[in-house]
Amino acid sequence: MKPVKVGLLGLGTVGTGVVRIVEGHQHDLMSQSGSPIEIVKILVQDKNKARNISVSSDMLTENPWDVIENPEIDVIVEVMGGIELTKQLMLGALERGKHIVTANKDLMALHSPEILAKAAEKGCDVFYEASVAGGIPIIRTLIEGFSSDRITKIMGIVNGTTNYILAKMSKEGAAYADVLKEAQELGYAEADPTSDVEGLDAARKMTILGTLGFHANVALADVEVKGISGVTKEDIAYGKRLGYEVKLLGIAERQDEHISISVQPTMVKTSHPLASVNGVFNAVYVHGEAVGETMFYGPGAGEMPTATSVVADLVAVVRNLNLGVNGRRGFIPYKEKKLKTDEQ
Ligand code: NAP
Ligand code: HSE
Repeated sequence: MKPVKVGLLGLGTVGTGVVRIVEGHQHDLMSQSGSPIEIVKILVQDKNKARNISVSSDMLTENPWDVIENPEIDVIVEVMGGIELTKQLMLGALERGKHIVTANKDLMALHSPEILAKAAEKGCDVFYEASVAGGIPIIRTLIEGFSSDRITKIMGIVNGTTNYILAKMSKEGAAYADVLKEAQELGYAEADPTSDVEGLDAARKMTILGTLGFHANVALADVEVKGISGVTKEDIAYGKRLGYEVKLLGIAERQDEHISISVQPTMVKTSHPLASVNGVFNAVYVHGEAVGETMFYGPGAGEMPTATSVVADLVAVVRNLNLGVNGRRGFIPYKEKKLKTDEQ
């Protein structure tokens, strides 16, 4: 059977997990997708860097266009991060009819309309499950699981790094800077962790969830953002004495045609399920008019949980290729629909 060939952009925390799963679960992936999956080229910044996975040096390249322009590659898996260059690469790949799987919330929060429009024009898939809440399949849940409902609220902990920091400060009295360093060493934090601690990463994820949940063109600028860098051990201890845990919460609400989205450190009653979400775990609460309350919980960052979502998307793309269909996971506006935000 002819293998589906994959170009991998990035061999860091997530890329390493992707290689491990594609190599380690080959039989299962083939039985679910209908084809063997073969990674044929991998983009890195530095070919000579020491890595904790062994790959043939022939597969590595430092030139992104070696991957994007390679005619034998069917699917691009983007786990390199970044915005401007990455956007050019994604558009270049779609132009050449390649399908895309990405974990990049920065890119999708800012440029998904353009990327999804190009994908629609070229008949390509763009899947981005790992861009929100790591190993929790929340994007396909919003798109497929709740397609019958009208969602009114999405609320949760969607950044693993800040939850790891706040939980360790609360449980162990650890110092903010020490725990941030640990989260970086564990591969949870972004290349520039400012986006984690200042709430921007969570805001980008809430932009994606709001867009998909409310079927609206939500812009990152619509999200009110405050991070945790100003939260002290004393704030956390004071909250605990009153029966609260401090959590960085993303809250997106819809009332009729009005939506509001915010990310901010919030005192959560210790009896509330979100208060006991510890470590790198995320939890997303979704309220729908018909379904009522639902909640999804799991690891929000890290090598293998994130790679699980990336490779699940890859399986879906390969299955679609074999069926000769597209199943793009995204909100494609059938008409320009903009709900009102607080700014308007
Ligand atoms: P990472 O560990 O920093 O890895 C990035 C990889 O991309 C590295 O292999 C790097 O090459 C390569 N790279 C970066 N910029 C490049 C460039 N301009 N040209 C060539 N290669 C380049 O990052 P990560 O943690 O795996 O995250 C990757 C993406 O997944 C990001 O979009 C992130 O937001 C997203 N994500 C991460 C997690 C997580 O838990 N880490 C979870 C969900 C989503 P070198 O190895 O040579 O430096
Ligand atoms: N830096 C992100 C986090 C990675 O800590 O949640 C997962 O998106």
